Amino acid sequence: MGKKIILSGIQSTGKLTLGNYLGAINNWVHMQEEYDCYYMIANLHTLTVRNDPEELRNNTLKILATYIAAGLDPEKNTLFIQSQVKEHAELGWILDCYTYMGELSRMTQFKDKAAKHADNINAGLFTYPALMAADILLYQADLVPVGEDQRQHLEITRDLAERFNKLYGKTFVVPEAYVRKESARIMGLQDPESKMSKSATNPNDVIFIEDEPEVIMKKFKKAVTDSENRIKFDPEKKPGVSNLMQIYSAITDKNMQEIEAEFEGKGYGDFKVAVANSVIDNLKPVQEKYKEILQNKDYLKEIYTKGAESARKLASKTLEDVKNKIGIL
Ligand code: TYM
Repeated sequence: MGKKIILSGIQSTGKLTLGNYLGAINNWVHMQEEYDCYYMIANLHTLTVRNDPEELRNNTLKILATYIAAGLDPEKNTLFIQSQVKEHAELGWILDCYTYMGELSRMTQFKDKAAKHADNINAGLFTYPALMAADILLYQADLVPVGEDQRQHLEITRDLAERFNKLYGKTFVVPEAYVRKESARIMGLQDPESKMSKSATNPNDVIFIEDEPEVIMKKFKKAVTDSENRIKFDPEKKPGVSNLMQIYSAITDKNMQEIEAEFEGKGYGDFKVAVANSVIDNLKPVQEKYKEILQNKDYLKEIYTKGAESARKLASKTLEDVKNKIGIL
C-alpha cells in the first residue's frame, strides 16, 4: 500500500505568527518522512479580504520561503501555490453547487470575518469552505494537519465528500483533521482568551516568525499572567500562564507535569524568560535560512513551478473523474 496523503495550507495574508508555526508548519515537518505531503499557499482564499497586489505577491513567496526554511524539504514534499493549479478554482465552483447556505452560515470563521470586515462581506468569504474542501478533496487527502480553528472547515469538507460519494459512488477519500493537542490553539499574549492572530490590533499580542530575538523577549516579558506567581496548567483559571506553558510544551516536547516540576518554586519572571528563549532558539535557524532563501527568487520559482506540475497530476485526475460523474463535457 502507498503512503497516506496529507494536504494543508496557509493563507498569504500578512506576516506568519507563532500560532501558524506551532499549529501548522512545525507539525508538518515531522510528517514528511511518513506521508506523501502536499503543502500549498492558499492565495485564492486570500482574496476574500482586500490586499495590496504587490504585497500579496511578496507574501506568497515569503510563505514558500518559510516552509522551506522551517524544514520542509522540497524534494520530499510537493510545495505549490494554489492559484497555479487551476483545478482548485474549478472544483471549488462545482462544490459550491453541493454546499448549502445553511451549512455555510454556521461557520464561525465567516461570522468572525464578516464582523471584522463589515464593509466587505463578499460572496467569496461566504463560500470559502467549499474552495477549502476542493483543496483537500482534489488530492484524496487522508489527513489534514491544522490548528483547532480549522476543525469546523474539515467537518464541512467531510460532509461534502460523503454527500458526493453517496450521489455518484466513491469519488473522494473522506479526510480527517489532524490537530496536535499541544499546539492546537495558541492564544494571544495580551488577550489569552482569544487565539493568536495575524490581524491582532495590539502588536504585543502576537509573535511573528520574523520577529527579532529582542522583540520576542520583550513581548513575552509583557505577556499577561495572573497574581498567583505559580506555574500551573489551568486554562480556565490561569489562561495566560497556561498558554505560555502550551507554547513551551509545543517547542520542548515536555508535558505539563514536567513543566510544572521544572518551574516549581520559580516565579513568572524566570518562566517568561525560559519560554522566550525556547522560542528564540527554535526560530533562529529558521529565520536565518528564510532570509537566505528569500533572496533567491529563481530557486523559489523552480520549487513552485515543479510543485504545481506535480500537484496537477493528482488534481486533474480527480477533477476529470468528478466531471465525468456529474455530466460536464
Ligand atoms: P490560516 O492561514 O488562518 O492558518 C494557517 C494554519 O495555522 C493554524 N493557526 C493556528 N494554530 C494554532 N494556534 C493559532 N493561534 C493559530 N492560528 C492559525 C490554522 O489552524 C491553520 O492550520 N483556511 C485555512 C487555509 C487553507 C487550508 C486549506 C488549510 C486553505 N485551504 C486546505 C488546510 C487545508 C486558513 O485560513 O488558515
